[in-house]
Amino acid sequence: MDAVTDRMSSRLWPAGLTRVPYWVYAEQDVLATEQRRIFEGPVWNYLCLEVDLPNVGDYRTTFIGSMPVVVVRADDGELCGFENRCAHRGALICLEDGGTAKDFQCVYHSWRYDLRGNLCSVAFRHGVNGKGGMSSDFDMAQHGPRKLRITTCCGLVFGTLSNDTPDFENWIGGEIAGRIRRVLGNKKIEIIGRFTQALPNNWKLYFENVRDTYHASLLHLFLTTFRITRLSQGGGVLVSDTGVGHASATLVPMQGPDTSYTSQSLRADNESFRLADPSILRMHDEFHDNIQLQILSVFPAFVLQQVQNALAVRQIVPRGVDQTDLNWTYLGFTDDTPELRMHRLKQCNLVGPAGYVSKEDGCVGGFVQRGIAAAADELSVVEMGGAAADTQDTRATEASVRGFWKAYRAHMGL
Ligand code: FES
Ligand SMILES: [Fe+2]
Repeated sequence: MDAVTDRMSSRLWPAGLTRVPYWVYAEQDVLATEQRRIFEGPVWNYLCLEVDLPNVGDYRTTFIGSMPVVVVRADDGELCGFENRCAHRGALICLEDGGTAKDFQCVYHSWRYDLRGNLCSVAFRHGVNGKGGMSSDFDMAQHGPRKLRITTCCGLVFGTLSNDTPDFENWIGGEIAGRIRRVLGNKKIEIIGRFTQALPNNWKLYFENVRDTYHASLLHLFLTTFRITRLSQGGGVLVSDTGVGHASATLVPMQGPDTSYTSQSLRADNESFRLADPSILRMHDEFHDNIQLQILSVFPAFVLQQVQNALAVRQIVPRGVDQTDLNWTYLGFTDDTPELRMHRLKQCNLVGPAGYVSKEDGCVGGFVQRGIAAAADELSVVEMGGAAADTQDTRATEASVRGFWKAYRAHMGL
């Protein structure tokens, strides 16, 4: 056991998955250990979409936790990835969000890398006029950024630094893979928008929020009022055995009155509201099942969203113990009719920092971060729906949040 584990283990964390100590959201040591054990450990990290990189030389810069990385389509068409860190003195090799390159040259002292991240030239390696330069035994092959293993699933690109990460479908579980295929498995993806949302909270608070289907109709009054998701609609949560994968589903609502919310005296009780233009609520039946909302996540930092016809992937990037970037990419398919494309763009107003719904998720993580400022050794309660991290046919449960903690504790050795 190393010193960090020793120190963390000595802190209060009861056995089981129903209590979480607040120090895990607030300490620098924890964040540094998460980077090593989780993000750089045996996990698949979402990087970008295959459609971002259609041709040889196309690249995108992205992140594995706090580690900057480059993903590139190499000369033979293979997808490659490497740390975005020059082997000389550590500068970013690549400064743009994306583009097309023949190779990469660091701006600091012009060391150059091929599309696979191999160091291929060193400026003034042999010095000038017989003086200076690197020593004659300097071996370029021994110097370079760390390389990633890459895998793809339905047009999503994932990377890992570990040789021990299992095959992707085994990693997330077959049922969760089926739920990715349900949304992305049959069509060619087209990107219809992207932005980054700055969250004022620890990255884990956002991951918990995504896994927490219990909050959706209580925090997001628009969802409740207009029956996009209510706990009284059918559905449930799938949780993979390891807790790595989760998918929650809300079924299309039954017609007729629903008194389950009015009877509880909740803030989420606005039956009298009507939209002047209800077209945003319409759902085109594109998946041919009765799931109108599916939120899926893969530990540690990936989300796939289907809220009616608003499709998106989200990448969670820690920026500090209480700062997180959330990278959103909105999706359509190449065969969308102009009407469906317009409808997707319109429905994107439900989710995102300026929409009717999930702006609240951007606030509520901050409310928790502020609420726990002096509560390092106090515990949150994650007990809805029992104590297990199991698949359930209800959404009045926190089973998938417990699944996150199951995977987290296993990877952190806690
Ligand atoms: S830091 Fe990149 S060439 Fe010097
Ligand atoms: Fe939410």
